[in-house]
Amino acid sequence: MAGQHRDALWQGRFQEGPDSGAISFETSIFDDMRLAAEDIAGSQAHVRMLGKAGIIPQNEADSIVRTLHEIAAQIANGQIKIDPTAEDIHSFIEGALTDRLGDTGRKVHTGRSRNDQIALDERLYLRRAIPVLQSRMVTLISTLATIAEKHTGTLLSGYTHLQRAQPVTLAHHLCAWAWMLTRDHGRLSDAIARISLSPLGAGALAGSSLPLDRETAARDLGFAGITPNSLDTVADRDYCVEIASALALVMTHLSRFCEEIVLWATAEFNFLDLSEKWSTGSSIMPQKKNPDFAELIRGRAGRVYGDLVALLTMLKGLPLAYNRDMQEDKASLFDAYDTVFSCLEVFTAMIATARWNVDRMAESCGGGFSNATDVAEYLARKGLPFRTAHAVSAGIVRECIEKKCAIEDLTLEDLRRHSPLVQGDIYSLIAPLACVEARNLPGGPAPDQTHRQIQALRDFCAATGHVEK
Ligand code: ARG
Repeated sequence: MAGQHRDALWQGRFQEGPDSGAISFETSIFDDMRLAAEDIAGSQAHVRMLGKAGIIPQNEADSIVRTLHEIAAQIANGQIKIDPTAEDIHSFIEGALTDRLGDTGRKVHTGRSRNDQIALDERLYLRRAIPVLQSRMVTLISTLATIAEKHTGTLLSGYTHLQRAQPVTLAHHLCAWAWMLTRDHGRLSDAIARISLSPLGAGALAGSSLPLDRETAARDLGFAGITPNSLDTVADRDYCVEIASALALVMTHLSRFCEEIVLWATAEFNFLDLSEKWSTGSSIMPQKKNPDFAELIRGRAGRVYGDLVALLTMLKGLPLAYNRDMQEDKASLFDAYDTVFSCLEVFTAMIATARWNVDRMAESCGGGFSNATDVAEYLARKGLPFRTAHAVSAGIVRECIEKKCAIEDLTLEDLRRHSPLVQGDIYSLIAPLACVEARNLPGGPAPDQTHRQIQALRDFCAATGHVEK
């Protein structure tokens, strides 16, 4: 049927119809059928403008708008099935309209091209869909804040180079991941703000000789204004790249977090237990409980990077203005979107149901001399130059390695041999909790500061309209 639509709609100069192989090769319907609602909303605004500007009779504009409304409702309720042999969503809907209205339907495309139409559809779609994805990000941020709230006093070794470094808390650690997601959220908002300009009126590439009122159509669609150059409007897909790049970064963050979950779920770390709902078994080893969901999310990061690279590569050799290569944008963009969407949902459920092994985490603060910096700072507070204090503390660590003990296991006498500035108060000051409480600068791990961070994360969520459940 769509083949017929296409022939009837733009047979143009051709005397022959397309080869059936040509149709199945060139169609974008499987990707752009998700743009049906936007395609219709865009056509309605365009036609309302055509009517108002007197370019087509008002009564015909009204009847196109009404019929498009019926078509939208019938697509939504399944009464109209999108024809998989249609060339694209634009031709399918224009065909359905023309089937119903005849010559009146043939006026919908006055002063318009599929080139500005697709640029419009994508912008309208992203403007609707990105906030839905962002709301899933906010749910994850809020979930992390809720877990953090319970663990502002849960000691955990912080790591650099995956070596025990200095004690922090689980709350502080989880907030670190949450802040990364707030920036990802911001990047998506920035991208959406930049595409809030209407492409309608750019036509195929060079605008139109008809007296279109671009501003009216833009306002009707809720855009902040109109795009400034018709060639640029139909030739770029930088907004797809920008969004795919923000999505790739979401995946980088989720993937790193998943890497940590995979490590933490090992018997060697044993910092957390994933729920059985979000773990898998082995077909041969009965004892296994594997973190496959974390691994799959980590693996799918590569897929989203692939989408980003596909978009960049698709664009890099294109002269102005529209080229059909650009049709490929949708497969990559939607794949990136869908992948991130499902990863966010799965990750949130997985982290919300994990059990945190707080005793093991506390143990990680011992045995690695993670209070050696606190010894150096103790001495620096007593007036020793920090570089000297660092060397004294290193000497103490060396002695402990020989004696196979922790710094706090040495006697005061042992410690004072390294520096007479050491006094009995050192023991209470280098206990892990004391080390954490002492790091009380803004942004630091001290529980008071972490409470402030959690509140700031909550404020971030609330500012996006998120409601706590
Ligand atoms: N399906 C096309 C796309 O997604 C729509 C624009 C087609 N324009 C053209 N001149 N063939 O890019």
